[in-house]
Parts: sequence; C-alpha cells; structure tokens
Amino acid sequence: MMTMPDIIDEIMDNFRKNGDALYDGGEAVTQTEHALQTAWFIEQDGGSDGLIAAALLHDYGHVMGRPDADLENL
Ligand SMILES: [Fe+2]
Repeated sequence: MMTMPDIIDEIMDNFRKNGDALYDGGEAVTQTEHALQTAWFIEQDGGSDGLIAAALLHDYGHVMGRPDADLENL
C-alpha cells in the first residue's frame, strides 16, 4: 500500500518525467506550467487547499507516462 509521501513522490516524478510536454489547449505552455497556472489562479481567488490541489492535478492524466497510442488501443 502506498503512503501519502509515496503518492506525492510519484506525482512529482511524473511531472518531472512528462511535464515538459506542451499543453494541448491552445496555449504555448507545458503541462507543468498549465497545472501551476491553474493552481495559482485558484489560490489568488481564495480557493481552499483542496481546490488548489484539485486545480494542480486536474490534467494529471496527461503526465502519467502512458503514451496516447496505448490509450487508443483500449
Ligand atoms: Fe487543463
């Protein structure tokens, strides 16, 4: 069973490995930059810690390291 620190390490590792990919939302930013921008806006708007975390991770699936080709074969 993974502990909370293990989960956080895994999330950080996935952002380090795959977060440099460009965000596919019409903006010239990486996945990591997009995640940080989203969390920052929620923080500036006074959002709760949980909402900030949700904003930070809302596109986490894009940095999990699963090539799109694998997803197309599901
Ligand atoms: Fe997004």
